[in-house]
Amino acid sequence: MIIYSAEFVTSATDYKKCPEPHIPEYAFIGRSNVGKSSLINMLTQKKGLAKTSGTPGKTQTINHFILNAGKPQPWYLVDLPGYGYAKVAKTSRKTWSKFIFDYLEFRENLICTFALVDARHEPQQSDVDFIVKLGKMQVPFVVVFTKTDKVKPLALKKNMEAMKSKLLEHYTHLPPIFSTSSENREGREELLNFIQKYCAVYNYKQVGNTFTT
Ligand code: GTP
Ligand code: MG
Repeated sequence: MIIYSAEFVTSATDYKKCPEPHIPEYAFIGRSNVGKSSLINMLTQKKGLAKTSGTPGKTQTINHFILNAGKPQPWYLVDLPGYGYAKVAKTSRKTWSKFIFDYLEFRENLICTFALVDARHEPQQSDVDFIVKLGKMQVPFVVVFTKTDKVKPLALKKNMEAMKSKLLEHYTHLPPIFSTSSENREGREELLNFIQKYCAVYNYKQVGNTFTT
C-alpha cells in the first residue's frame, strides 16, 4: 500500500467524541513504552506525527490520524495510551481502563487492533492478560512484536515462541503475528499489506456486496 498522506485529526478520551466512523480504522495498543507511537511514525514515514518519548506514559488520549485522505481508500490509524505504567495513579488507571475498553467495545469501524509486545522480553503477564481480554471481548486483533532491532535473532525466536505457547493456553488458533522495528523499518510492508487487505474487504462490504465463498 502506498501512503500518500498522513495527518493528525483529533485527540479524545471518549469514543463518542472520536471522528465520524465512516472509514476503516486500526488501533495500536500495548504496554507503555512498547513503541506504539514510533510504529505509527514508521508506517507513515512521518517522524513526529505521533508524539514519542523515552519516558513511559507519553500518550494519554485516543489519537486519530487519517491516511490517504481524499484518495479512494482513506483509513484511520489510532494511537492509544499504554497500560502497565506504574506511576499512573490508581484512579486515573481506572479511567484509562474505562475509556479504552469502551473504545474497543463500541467503536463500530474498528477493523483490527494491533496488540504490541516488546520483542526483548519473555511474555509478560500483563500482555497475556490484555490479549486474552481482547479475545473475550471479541475484539479482532493481531500481535505485533516491536523493537526487534534490539534483540538477537535467537532470543527473538525464543521470546516469540514463548508468547505463542502462552497464547495457545487460551486460544485454539494463533492470530497473525508480525515482527517489526521502527528503527530499521522491519515489518512495514507486511503490516501495510495486511491493512490494505482489510480495507478492501471493508469497502467491498460498504457497497452492499455479499461474499459467495
Ligand atoms: P506510551 O505512549 O508512553 O504508551 O509509549 P509508546 O508505546 O507510544 O512508545 P514510544 O513510541 O513513545 O517509544 C518508546 C521508546 O522506545 C522511545 O524512546 C522510542 O524511541 C523507543 N522505540 C520505539 N520503537 C523502537 C524500535 O523499534 N527500536 C528501538 N531501538 N527503539 C524503539
Ligand atoms: Mg505513545
